[in-house]
Amino acid sequence: MYLLAFETSCDDTSIAIFRDRELVAMKTRSQIREHNETKWVVPEVAARIHANNIFGVLEEVLIESKITLGEINIIACTEFPGLMPSLLVGMSVVKTLSHTLAIPYLPIDHIEAHMFANYLERETNAIHFPAICLTVSGGHNELYLWKNMFEREKIGETLDDSAGEAFDKVAKMMGLGYPGGPIIGKIASEYTGSFHSIFPNVLLNKNGHDFSFSGLKSAVKREVDKRIDKNISLTEQDIQEIAFEFEQTVVNILSYKLFHAAEILGVSSVVLAGWVSANDRLCETIEREAKQRNYYFLAPIRKIYSQDNAAMVGILAYYKHQKTSSEK
Ligand code: KG4
Ligand code: ZN
Repeated sequence: MYLLAFETSCDDTSIAIFRDRELVAMKTRSQIREHNETKWVVPEVAARIHANNIFGVLEEVLIESKITLGEINIIACTEFPGLMPSLLVGMSVVKTLSHTLAIPYLPIDHIEAHMFANYLERETNAIHFPAICLTVSGGHNELYLWKNMFEREKIGETLDDSAGEAFDKVAKMMGLGYPGGPIIGKIASEYTGSFHSIFPNVLLNKNGHDFSFSGLKSAVKREVDKRIDKNISLTEQDIQEIAFEFEQTVVNILSYKLFHAAEILGVSSVVLAGWVSANDRLCETIEREAKQRNYYFLAPIRKIYSQDNAAMVGILAYYKHQKTSSEK
């Protein structure tokens, strides 16, 4: 069975082809360069770029896979959540292809796809259930109790900004580029000082599972303004220290909430998903803590599977199709 998967929920036009659960080819065209000027994704601009790019990306992935459209048996696309204008571009193309090729269309949930990225290049038993999954990226920041492959319950979410959004906004405050996460991560890794916890460790209700990052973001803004007032502009040392302190605070909050939920719910398996989970400090901290506390830990095997990509859409579509076929 050949499966064609599309992802256009934000600012990546990504298309993948699967032979059963094996990824045959994937092509992704990012819009980072186009959004660098605004340091933010403007939905209508992103949709227009998706519309310009989508057929070129489709052609590239078909050429690389050496598979023709006529051989495709199923087509899948991210349907929700995401930026509506961007989602509509992918869905219109996919629904048209489904109709003209007379093949079934599978709508895919973006967050569930991020979680399923953990199955890519792994066996079906790779995830130990029940697990607590932290899904953290630009558009979302949640904790799920993942009961089995297709059953999950949202137990916590952000009440304002996501961690990814906070990374993007803090980068913008310091005049750095977009997306902020990888840029701050790189600058923070070059800082040689130690952690002084200059920003608040916002845990909200210590026993609850919800997040809030807007207070942290405002604290960083105050610190940036204070240092600019003193020295006219931020020095390289200021930028490094703020990036490091901010990143470490976000990591501490995410890690605390993840293990706290696992402990409260008596779950011994923790999973990461979403592009912020590609943050080295976050991943290493959680992996180390999991080892020390005897938790089973899993994150996508490659960083490209953590960011928005069509492979995660394809692997979820494959397992969903398997499930419905076995129920018939
Ligand atoms: O999953 P994604 O591509 O889009 C959404 O579904 O929202 O996530 C994008 C977000 C951006 O906010 C970006 O700054 C953040 O993920 N991000 C990171 C890192 N790489 C990407 N945040 C922290 N550290 C990183 N290394
Ligand atoms: Zn995403």
